[in-house]
Amino acid sequence: MTTFLNDSFTGDSTSIHRLVGEVRRHEVPVYRCSRSLANRALSDSLAEDVGRLDPSGPDSVFAVDPRRAAGDPVPFLPKSRLWTRDEQRIAVEHFARVVADGELTSGSAIGEFEDALAEFLAVPHAVATSSGTDALIIALRAVGVSHGDEVIMPANSFAATENAVWACGATPVLVDIDPVRHTLDPALVETAITPRTRAILPVHLYGRFADVPGLAEIARRHGLGLVEDACQAIGVTGVGQHSDAAALSFNPYKNFGLTGKAGAVVTRDAEVGVSARRFAYHGFDPERKNVKEDAFGLNAKIDNSTAAVALGLLPRLTLNSYRRAFLAKRYLDALEELAADGTAVLPAFTPDHAWHLFGVQVAAGREARDAIQARMRTADAVETDIYYPVLTHRQQTPLHRKHFAHVALPLTEQVHARVLHLPLHNNLSLSEQDRVIEALHAAFRATAH
Ligand SMILES: Cc1ncc(COP(=O)(O)O)c(C=O)c1O
Repeated sequence: MTTFLNDSFTGDSTSIHRLVGEVRRHEVPVYRCSRSLANRALSDSLAEDVGRLDPSGPDSVFAVDPRRAAGDPVPFLPKSRLWTRDEQRIAVEHFARVVADGELTSGSAIGEFEDALAEFLAVPHAVATSSGTDALIIALRAVGVSHGDEVIMPANSFAATENAVWACGATPVLVDIDPVRHTLDPALVETAITPRTRAILPVHLYGRFADVPGLAEIARRHGLGLVEDACQAIGVTGVGQHSDAAALSFNPYKNFGLTGKAGAVVTRDAEVGVSARRFAYHGFDPERKNVKEDAFGLNAKIDNSTAAVALGLLPRLTLNSYRRAFLAKRYLDALEELAADGTAVLPAFTPDHAWHLFGVQVAAGREARDAIQARMRTADAVETDIYYPVLTHRQQTPLHRKHFAHVALPLTEQVHARVLHLPLHNNLSLSEQDRVIEALHAAFRATAH
């Protein structure tokens, strides 16, 4: 590896993608690395042993986990490997310290974690919550969404996005996606605005940043709130920078996963920050015990025990982001020919991505996609998945039928019928990834007619 001096490294997705390109070209710069807590493990590697970032280097950060044998099935997301053994030890030690102190719900770890998170994301205010779902409800309430309002959002998301809108007494208005990002299309949002619209709620689906600057311009012109569902997008450049608030999730299956459900609201707006903090805890004034400032609030602050674990694991965040981006690029290079001959559509390796999920679109459509998924499972023991099995407007509850029976979202439906998600998690080994790549190629060959 050759080294040269580069400008500062913040650990956001833009700097991570640049680093992946450099390591793959064997040109790693000597970075001036921001020492924010989230960057600690990655900046140590950059400072001490850049070779560790290369999969072939000794002590590589891609070292294969010894708990696997060569022919084992490749799970989509193995629960026993959400963390490395080292990370498991750190989580247990941090949890144990809090148990010994008895500071399980309130305590000093919460504020420390909020400060570290705000520093990493370069936002002035962070309120850590008991889940991403709660963070969404709190953020929507903090920007003024309430009973009878409409909130414009996409239909291809986890149910938490729409549930947060319903929980505020508001109604989701579903709008189609743009053809490149597969996130809320600003041009269509504009046509869906009515006198009842109160906010826009884009989702950074699979970790790809929605067009928030474009949506912010529309929100400003129409006097609407703008809340980002960034639950899949920690570390993506721009999160929290152009909106009223962004909601994050740290449940154990997320890029930055903790030992229980957790999340955060981050915002540039001091008033939104104050109201989010009050709403997260019973409407109380944070400075005066059990004294209300808001009529109502939730019991939705992060636990001190979870915040303590978060402080222990935060130093690994950008190292894991680097691993994910590197694995995504490796998939893209190995699957290039499927894209070239038009049998698959691959995601672009853009720097506004956290690579929470890696989706391949099977051009031939739903039946071929399902056949490929079945063959990968039965012939090669490779597990894939589909996010999300049922789109919001196709859910079959009386409420959904009443509101969405006549909703048509052609592009959302087309993408959803073709997408197949390949394993991509913090601890996917290179040999597992090779198995996925071979199985996918074989399945495409077997199902081609
Ligand atoms: C897009 C999206 N929004 C919201 C959530 C809700 O987060 P949580 O599970 O932390 O409540 C999730 C994750 O589950 C998600 O993927």
